[in-house]
Amino acid sequence: MIGKTLSLQSLSKRFERTVAVEGVSFDIAAGEFVSVLGPSGSGKTTLLTMIAGFEAPSSGRISIGGQDITGAAPNRRNIGMVFQKYALFPHMTVHQNVAFPLRMRRVDRLAIRDRVRMILELVQLVGFDHRYPNQLSGGQQQRVAVARALVCEPPVLLMDEPLGALDKNLREAMQLEIKRIQSKLGATVIYVTHDQDEAMTLSDRVAIMSGGTLVQLGAPADIYQRPCSPFVAQFVGKMNFINGECQRDEAGTCHIRISDRITIPAPSPSLSGAGHLQRGRAVKLAVRPESLSFAPPDSATAIPGHIDAEIFVGAFRVYLVRLATIGQPIVQVQLPASTSAGPFRRGERVDLFAFKEAFHVFAAPEA
Ligand SMILES: Nc1ncnc2c1ncn2[C@@H]1O[C@H](COP(=O)(O)OP(=O)(O)OP(=O)(O)O)[C@@H](O)[C@H]1O
Ligand SMILES: [Mg+2]
Repeated sequence: MIGKTLSLQSLSKRFERTVAVEGVSFDIAAGEFVSVLGPSGSGKTTLLTMIAGFEAPSSGRISIGGQDITGAAPNRRNIGMVFQKYALFPHMTVHQNVAFPLRMRRVDRLAIRDRVRMILELVQLVGFDHRYPNQLSGGQQQRVAVARALVCEPPVLLMDEPLGALDKNLREAMQLEIKRIQSKLGATVIYVTHDQDEAMTLSDRVAIMSGGTLVQLGAPADIYQRPCSPFVAQFVGKMNFINGECQRDEAGTCHIRISDRITIPAPSPSLSGAGHLQRGRAVKLAVRPESLSFAPPDSATAIPGHIDAEIFVGAFRVYLVRLATIGQPIVQVQLPASTSAGPFRRGERVDLFAFKEAFHVFAAPEA
């Protein structure tokens, strides 16, 4: 089976006064794996149900493999879907649930038996064939739903938090399985998750939604290293925001002043968005905890502060640092657990450093 391209054009959905999805457009290549991340209520499920055909869009178009399917019935779209709430048939056993899409396609009985057994092995549910959904745990129900979506090897697969109820180990094992099956089939996948690590690990590209709109779409590293807005910056990974002001030197280059004595040379405008900022404009200087350290990389500017707390988090240590300038927030610094820095006393004076490329500059909201 070969995946198909999927194209969304200005897709919107209104429920009376709620705008659930607004003007979402993007193309997914055949065989591509795209994750959708976004806060609760940002329109992720609504987007998937429109693609699957369970909700009609208020406006916009959906096409698969170049064919417009905006008005097609769900069973005519050849899409596999795992719903957020499992949606198993309660009166059918595990076996019957998984066999259902094959029966609809009139696959013969022996072939059904073999395919169901194979897929149940894959999701580690052999021996559960005759149970009903209400006799299964949440995680087991989720795995039945995944098996049912995969059994027909659909060219397009939509998954709405398919592993949400699983514990860490099973979840990671299932992630690998889903990825393995997806690349084996070459299926095109849209995968909704709340788990950023999961999105980063599985995906070719990640789509970030907020308030019904698509705010950024890019490769995992792009989203992480070049967030397009403060929202994306703080939503994906951890981010410190330091208040500053744009200053321009004689050459017109923007530098960010964070106190009377400290000015950070702005990174290249293409990286940071600083190119468009007016002189005197209030900005948020964003820098990730792992980009900060207590040791100067070459000639970076020191930002003075005082240690507020030190937290051991297994693989790394997090230091909360109160910046010396009044009106600045507490900043997190993340170092490997094996760091030779510290131990520090509470209140001890430290200097923070980062490569200037690690800073992002965003215009602060106008007061
Ligand atoms: N059938 C409906 N009728 C009215 N409003 C709806 C309906 N379905 C969804 N909404 C609203 O549309 C918005 C988007 O909902 P949606 O379920 O798509 O969000 P989500 O991103 O999947 O959230 P979650 O992460 O919590 O699952 C929400 O404000 C929700 O209340
Ligand atoms: Mg949802």
